[in-house]
Amino acid sequence: MAHEQTHPAAAKPGNALKGETGVPGDKSISHRALMFGGLAVGQTRITGLLEGEDVLRTAAAMRAMGAEIVKEADGTWRTRGRGIGALAEPADVLDLGNAGTGARLLMGLVAAHPIFAVFTGDASLRRRPMGRVTAPLLRMGAKFEHRGTSEGKVLLPLAVIGAKNPMPIEYELPVASAQVKSAVLLAGLNTPGKTTTVEKARTRDHTERMLRHFGAEVTIETANGLTRATVTGRPELKASDVIVPGDPSSAAFPLVAGLIVPGSDVTVRGVGLNPLRTGLFTTLREMGATLDIANKRDQAGEEVGDLNARFTALKGVEVPPERAPSMIDEYPILAVAASFAKGRTIMRGLHELRVKESDRLAAIAKGLEACGVKIAIEGDDLIVEGNDGPPPGMEAATPAIATHLDHRIAMSFLVMGLAAKKGTRVDDCATIATSFPDFLPLIRRLGGEIVA
Ligand code: S3P
Repeated sequence: MAHEQTHPAAAKPGNALKGETGVPGDKSISHRALMFGGLAVGQTRITGLLEGEDVLRTAAAMRAMGAEIVKEADGTWRTRGRGIGALAEPADVLDLGNAGTGARLLMGLVAAHPIFAVFTGDASLRRRPMGRVTAPLLRMGAKFEHRGTSEGKVLLPLAVIGAKNPMPIEYELPVASAQVKSAVLLAGLNTPGKTTTVEKARTRDHTERMLRHFGAEVTIETANGLTRATVTGRPELKASDVIVPGDPSSAAFPLVAGLIVPGSDVTVRGVGLNPLRTGLFTTLREMGATLDIANKRDQAGEEVGDLNARFTALKGVEVPPERAPSMIDEYPILAVAASFAKGRTIMRGLHELRVKESDRLAAIAKGLEACGVKIAIEGDDLIVEGNDGPPPGMEAATPAIATHLDHRIAMSFLVMGLAAKKGTRVDDCATIATSFPDFLPLIRRLGGEIVA
């Protein structure tokens, strides 16, 4: 795996970024397309799949459990499944690499099949909490053995003994997590009766949408501030083609580069605009960004559009905690934008950032401090003092940033370097391949200079 070997990279300032580009397919949707296509009987064609390491790990795991998954000569992917309830026991450990989504959603699937499977991942994934997923799955009848028990933690490697007779549950999510919600709903697929998740804060609903697209019965009800998603178990999933939209979480990087590098004008086509994913774009507009959305259209049940960002003097804002689920992966790049804004930006309710691919709250804070940005963490809030342009600390020396095996930290600080006098250096850009393999060439095509 690329991320076992580190590759430093440096961003150099100077050029305006100009031009039009696409971005790779949505990571969340790509994982789900392979899982559902790999379960459904018959042939599913997937167009625009993200061919990042995370997603390829999910493909390998699904193959190990009996799905046929191949890439065609024309670049589309074709899957053929054995049907709900027919997952095969994998002959070896399932290594999900850096992918929290792959690991947690597949644990849900395995939990309701009478099979044994062992999950592991890279050093980052092996540090991430899995108890949030095993807690509801235990109630459905699965059993687990895992590392971390002596410290009261649930960590990979983790063995799942799937339930022979899974039981449906109603589960109120203690954390705002689409991965936890999805793990429960996926376990519900092979569970008789109705399995329900209850959310206070709505998280991305790609699982619910795509299950419906594959013919499952999924109902969504919102009342008294709670959203209930219910799946009826043992549906006949019908193979259904999927078109994967461009990932808004990846589009965020060239778009913010367009906003903070003087003279830039960047268009990203075909970006997913699912309203549960667009918190960053809302926030950037509140900051005064020249960020236009055109050509909105529906693409296989998901909204997409073309986004244009032009260099703008941004202003600081307060981002409310309830917006966090719709932009949870975008705080690193928002914090970079906030450093260039006039005035203070306060981002509230960021506790979940501590358990991402790295402790992102700490990684953002340390990275910004290395760039001479004044920041504070108060409880779960991050406060960034804007500099009305590049942070003065970046005029004198090139900051060196530690990325902690985190692709989004790497991309955020490379974007930052495109806009400040001495650029930036990051200790590793290999992890970028997990979600955005084309990031460096894409930035270069737009005119940005990154050396690796
Ligand atoms: C994802 C959900 C989010 C997000 C992750 C992808 C998904 O994680 O950060 O990148 O595909 O469901 P959480 O569910 O842990 O919030």
